[in-house]
Amino acid sequence: EKGGHDYFMLKEIEEQPEALANTLRGHFVDGRIVLDEQRMSDQDLRDVDKVFVVACGTAYHSGLVAKYAIEHWTRLPVEAELASEFRYRDPVLDRDTLVVAISQSGETADTLEAVRHAREQKARVLAICNTNGAQIPRESDAVLYTHAGPEIGVAATKTFLAQVAANYLVGLALAQARGTKYPDEVAREFEALSAMPAAVEQVLSTVDQVREIGRELAESKAVLFLGRHVGYPVALEGALKLKELAYMHAEGFAAGELKHGPIALIEPGLPVVVVMPSPKGRAVLHAKLLSNISEIQARGARTIVIAEEGDETVRPIADHLIEIPSVPTLLQPLVATVPMQVLAAEIARSRGYDVDKPRNLAKSVTVE
Ligand code: F6R
Repeated sequence: EKGGHDYFMLKEIEEQPEALANTLRGHFVDGRIVLDEQRMSDQDLRDVDKVFVVACGTAYHSGLVAKYAIEHWTRLPVEAELASEFRYRDPVLDRDTLVVAISQSGETADTLEAVRHAREQKARVLAICNTNGAQIPRESDAVLYTHAGPEIGVAATKTFLAQVAANYLVGLALAQARGTKYPDEVAREFEALSAMPAAVEQVLSTVDQVREIGRELAESKAVLFLGRHVGYPVALEGALKLKELAYMHAEGFAAGELKHGPIALIEPGLPVVVVMPSPKGRAVLHAKLLSNISEIQARGARTIVIAEEGDETVRPIADHLIEIPSVPTLLQPLVATVPMQVLAAEIARSRGYDVDKPRNLAKSVTVE
């Protein structure tokens, strides 16, 4: 049942506050983060000296977000890597390496092989998975389940937000075990996370506006996505959603790379979606993105700007402005991704495509 929606994906987009709340539930008890479904002790977590996050597609983008948060909170080096690349190079792994394998289905062949490779090298593997008893959690040392519920749409939406939240829990558990954050700081971070379902609920009030923008962009040949810091993986995710659903050429760029090549793509009428950092949280990055947007607008691009509510500086340079609530910088992907999902789905629908079953794609990719 699509619950009165044109397509399942929209229903699943609207289930995101609940998916987040369910994923966080039960993981903060008596003032401590508990990863209760995991079989890793505090001592195991203390011994970790390096983290690899491996996954494919959208799950990989959640890993890219995790890198910013886990490094910041734990001061451990973190690499996020495509599972299909990780296993065919010769990653340096040992007993003190933690490999976080993220997979909605828990059956993705590349991710499973990365898990097997990591365990052969004696690394410890923690799976983040949405499917009870799937192969990847079965072969991992420990598992943290996302509780997003079954996802029918082929394109991952609510499971992405749940994966990001689960990664944050892993980061906070590591920070707590290592003592890089005091207990009251961990408690505050968890409290900020717990406020995110309501923040996502607030973004959902922009769905109609974003669908309207999507209909206006449906005839475009290509769309570019720009972001910086945690906004960069959000840009990659926006581009992936548009490729897979609307069969359009879409690219996500780190905004700082614009001058190193991609600016040559800018031409009159080209839609460019930009994720603005918070003006309060990361003022320097905010200023840099403002100048990026001015440059692309001066070259005639059509700017679709996702920015914090009350950020008046973007108004003059935004052809379309989508407002998101003000949240801590590291948590911004949880709100900024939502309009990207809606935009891709609506462009696809306007072009006459089946949003829930894009061509050539399967929900779980069990061959390499
Ligand atoms: C994109 C999408 C895919 C999956 C990828 C990994 O919308 O759904 O990119 O994210 O195939 O799948 P899982 O998470 O099942 O390993």
